[in-house]
Amino acid sequence: MDVFIAGFGVVGQGITEVIRDKQELFIKHFGEKVRIVGAFDTKSLALDPSGLDPDELLKRKDSLGKVGKDEVSDDIVKLLQDTEYDLLLEVTPTNIKDGGAGYMHIHTALSAGRHVATSNKGPLALKFRELTELAERNRVHLRYEASVGGAMPVINLSRELLMGEEIASMRGILNGTCNFILHRMKEERFSFQFALREAQELGYAETDPSYDIDGIDSACKLAILANAIFDRDVTYADVSRTGIRGISEEAVALAAEHKQVIRLIGEVSKEKLEVAPRLVPAGHPLSIGGTLNIAQLLTDLAGDVTVVGRGAGRMETASALLSDILAILKNGETRRDAKR
Ligand SMILES: NC(=O)c1ccc[n+]([C@@H]2O[C@H](COP(=O)([O-])OP(=O)(O)OC[C@H]3O[C@@H](n4cnc5c(N)ncnc54)[C@H](OP(=O)(O)O)[C@@H]3O)[C@@H](O)[C@H]2O)c1
Repeated sequence: MDVFIAGFGVVGQGITEVIRDKQELFIKHFGEKVRIVGAFDTKSLALDPSGLDPDELLKRKDSLGKVGKDEVSDDIVKLLQDTEYDLLLEVTPTNIKDGGAGYMHIHTALSAGRHVATSNKGPLALKFRELTELAERNRVHLRYEASVGGAMPVINLSRELLMGEEIASMRGILNGTCNFILHRMKEERFSFQFALREAQELGYAETDPSYDIDGIDSACKLAILANAIFDRDVTYADVSRTGIRGISEEAVALAAEHKQVIRLIGEVSKEKLEVAPRLVPAGHPLSIGGTLNIAQLLTDLAGDVTVVGRGAGRMETASALLSDILAILKNGETRRDAKR
């Protein structure tokens, strides 16, 4: 299978390392290599139909800040249409205004009959139905495990392993930054501002933290889960959303006196679509600390099924993308096979 990588930052470089290191696995299970035939970032393009050397891409990016030797074309649409590849790995920044370049990349690749696996929440939180229907019409896969919860495999678990279950609801912690802040407020009796500053110093929170602390990131992920698992047709703007800015030290201390913690919980069911701070009994799975993500699914046969994992990180997110690459290899012909 030949892959084209759009975006060569933390996740793009992580998945490049994983593709380099998992060749034996690909050959053992599917009898074929996964080759990187193209990659681009904002400044450059690397292209070789016979396969690029992952180490060379990583080295060039590290030393020169560019993945390729060539200038990136002005006409990305044409590039994604005309190049030979089977799968686009779309790992450019999330844009929740209109989906940004990521939306254009995904739309173009699907329209051109290429599979797509992405960690980019924006296009999915805004235009989920449009993109999944486009994939269906073109008989290609659109996979997005990495867009929600990093290495926490909630989407593929729900849609594949729990396919026979009726899932009544999902409640979870979908943003590690907020969880870290709330956890530190309780454990160290920090104020919200102090805990936020610590999260920023440790690199968990952005300089402008509003995307995390106002619950926007969680709402994007919840919208994706609502569409993917509950067959809803929503965007992140449909999510009723309250962030954690207003949580005081006093509220956290009062909750602790009653053996409870405050957590930013996303909940989706047929009736509900909400991100809000909620009281959770100490010791309950959803009282989890640190930067972890967790999702608890209420199913008709298996009861509560809980999945926990690291919500972000280079290798964690690459792990989710790898699971999607493997699913595509397992489920379908690569485009080249289909053309033969
Ligand atoms: N990092 C995580 O732990 C994580 C976890 C889950 C999901 N995600 C999602 O995964 C995606 C990638 O995250 P990241 O952390 O890898 O971001 P990042 O480190 O900022 O890298 C983004 C990459 O995309 C490139 N890029 C930006 N705009 C582009 C455009 N218009 N066309 C082509 N390339 C463009 C950048 O190019 P330059 O290098 O030239 O600037 C950079 O290489 C985001 O959507 C993010 O929300 C990330």
